[in-house]
Amino acid sequence: MTTRRRFLGRLTGLIAAVIGTILAVPAVGYLIGPSWRRVSATRASAGTIADLPVDQPVQREVVIETHDGWLKDQNTKGVWVVKRSTGEINVYNPHCTHLGCAYKWSRDEQRFLCPCHGGVYDLNGRVLAGPPPRPLDTMEHTIDGDRLIVTYVDFKSGASKKIPI
Ligand code: FES
Repeated sequence: MTTRRRFLGRLTGLIAAVIGTILAVPAVGYLIGPSWRRVSATRASAGTIADLPVDQPVQREVVIETHDGWLKDQNTKGVWVVKRSTGEINVYNPHCTHLGCAYKWSRDEQRFLCPCHGGVYDLNGRVLAGPPPRPLDTMEHTIDGDRLIVTYVDFKSGASKKIPI
């Protein structure tokens, strides 16, 4: 009798341990999983497209949310948007591909100019002069109604190819 009672007690303990383990694994994953994740690509609205001038770059702001482990942060980034006469839209990352300075559009010269080391790009983002090793970095985007939705990504500066960071 004692042996049977002891056996049932151990069996109950074993079943409880198995159930506890089954419940604990997802709970632990839920708790510590985000600390391993770093998400920096974010989709955000860059405003409406109807009011974009043709072939004149406009700087728009996007508010992106980044997740670094448990830390959530919101940052406002300025992207360059160009609506072409064909209706095509280009969205450029705001950093020069040389060393990451902020460049500007010059209406007079009809060029993007980087003040740091003289980088010059045309409307299509192609390098015309200076040390930039690659064209301006385009970013993916979609149109939702009249809204331009941009997937904001930063890229490694100084590299000859686009490398997301
Ligand atoms: Fe733009 Fe150097 S950072 S040319």
